[in-house]
Amino acid sequence: MKIHLLSLVFLLFSLALGLNLNPKCNLQDQGSTLQVFHVYSPCSPFRPSTPLSWEESVLQMQAKDQARLQYLSSLVAGKSVVPIASGRQIIQSPTYIVRAKIGTPAQTMLLAMDTSNDVAWIPCSGCVGCSSAAFNSAKSTTFKTLGCQAAQCKQVPNPTCGGRACTFNMTYGSSSIAANLSQDNITLATDSVPGYTFGCITKATGISTPPQGLLGLGRGPLSLLSQSQKLYKSTFSYCLPSFRSLNFSGSLRLGPIGQPKRIKTTPLLKNPRRSSLYYVNLVAIRVGRRVVDIPPSALAFNPTTGAGTIFDSGTVFTRLVAPVYTAVRDAFRRRVGIATVTSLGGFDTCYSGPIAAPTITFMFTGMNVTLAPENLLIHSTAGSITCLAMAAAPDNVNSVLNVIANMQQQNHRILYDVPNSRLGVAREQCT
Ligand SMILES: *[C@@H]1O[C@H](CO)[C@@H](O)[C@H](O)[C@H]1NC(C)=O
Ligand SMILES: *[C@@H]1O[C@H](CO)[C@@H](O)[C@H](O)[C@H]1NC(C)=O
Ligand SMILES: *[C@@H]1O[C@H](CO)[C@@H](O)[C@H](O)[C@H]1NC(C)=O
Ligand SMILES: *[C@@H]1O[C@H](CO)[C@@H](O)[C@H](O)[C@H]1NC(C)=O
Ligand SMILES: *[C@@H]1O[C@H](CO)[C@@H](O)[C@H](O)[C@H]1NC(C)=O
Repeated sequence: MKIHLLSLVFLLFSLALGLNLNPKCNLQDQGSTLQVFHVYSPCSPFRPSTPLSWEESVLQMQAKDQARLQYLSSLVAGKSVVPIASGRQIIQSPTYIVRAKIGTPAQTMLLAMDTSNDVAWIPCSGCVGCSSAAFNSAKSTTFKTLGCQAAQCKQVPNPTCGGRACTFNMTYGSSSIAANLSQDNITLATDSVPGYTFGCITKATGISTPPQGLLGLGRGPLSLLSQSQKLYKSTFSYCLPSFRSLNFSGSLRLGPIGQPKRIKTTPLLKNPRRSSLYYVNLVAIRVGRRVVDIPPSALAFNPTTGAGTIFDSGTVFTRLVAPVYTAVRDAFRRRVGIATVTSLGGFDTCYSGPIAAPTITFMFTGMNVTLAPENLLIHSTAGSITCLAMAAAPDNVNSVLNVIANMQQQNHRILYDVPNSRLGVAREQCT
């Protein structure tokens, strides 16, 4: 209940603050590179007006993750999302935002980055249930609503043809959204993508919808990658700043130019039933030097059930399916060797006082990634509590997915190279 109230308070502040970035944040998006902020950054209008305590922010991020995991599981299962518990609504908007300009003349929107979603959608003025900071389509000379005969209308979920417009409905987290399929120019840093197709939200229920819209970086047919194929060649990378250094921004670099040449990579796997998700092959996990004993079936990629491992920018803490998490956690606890283990929210491996933590290495096909302590542990501000920052997939979700989440990706360059079907990871301090 406490988490729920905090979320609501947070939402109300988000709505009240509207569209503008903090004027002190003199940000420069250059070339094909956009700055990326954490939603709680001082540069973000969506930050809580009074800073949350460490415990509150951890609990809040965990609560959002529950909804996120549920959403990802629904993608895998191909069913729509049911609320976690009836009547309980949780903000599920992804954690990192970028700036985009839409229309002629350009209107600036702060879009949430989501690697597990294809479609972009933007709240449009007149939308029922959206925040006040909406895109005013009437003011853009290049805006168009697509009709039912448009080829793209066949690619959206649940299309209907009320009037002449192609309208569609979808669920996102605990929200449902109704949108007109629309087109306008979008400008990302200094690149312009003319006639970009997106959902212009006309109605939203629930509070999972990012207040100013979503930039889907998935690789399905209607995604930004597919629509900007000539410009960006389905290649991008990002560096996500740590949520402990909120004043730092990271970067989203679109296109093949300027991407790291030497980087460890692992093949991307394709699931035809879930074309937008970035699956990789996680083959084993090491705690310290020892490979943990995990049943191979718990890690195996299975396109039919959707099982396997994905990289996701919208989940905060890595979730492993129960048998994998239990094996890793037990190995971790044995290595720490302190008998008294406490819990905090959904984290079950916490210690009061300092610990000597072993490293954890994710072993993918062709690439080992050893997590730095900052990607592995969360510490309370006072340093009195330390937790292993991972958890088992929530047990109310029929989960088969291992999700490598954004805390585990922070201060790394993550390269998505679709033409060469590979995902790369390299340490990088993003500021
Ligand atoms: C959405 O389409 C309907 C017609 O189906 C139209 O009346 C409405 O103005 C459109 N809304 C926006 C924001 O474009
Ligand atoms: C889409 O949503 C609108 C309003 O929320 C509703 O009236 C309509 O029946 C829905 N259509 C579909 C196909 O679910
Ligand atoms: C916007 O897109 C149209 C095509 O839809 C194009 O003709 C026009 O040049 C674009 N404008 C800008 C400013 O990029
Ligand atoms: C972030 O910047 C603000 C001023 O813009 C400053 O007051 C604050 O102390 C900084 N926070 C951190 C964690 O450096
Ligand atoms: C990953 O680490 C293991 C040792 O635990 C080693 O055998 C393997 O060659 C490494 N893989 C790569 C790609 O470096």
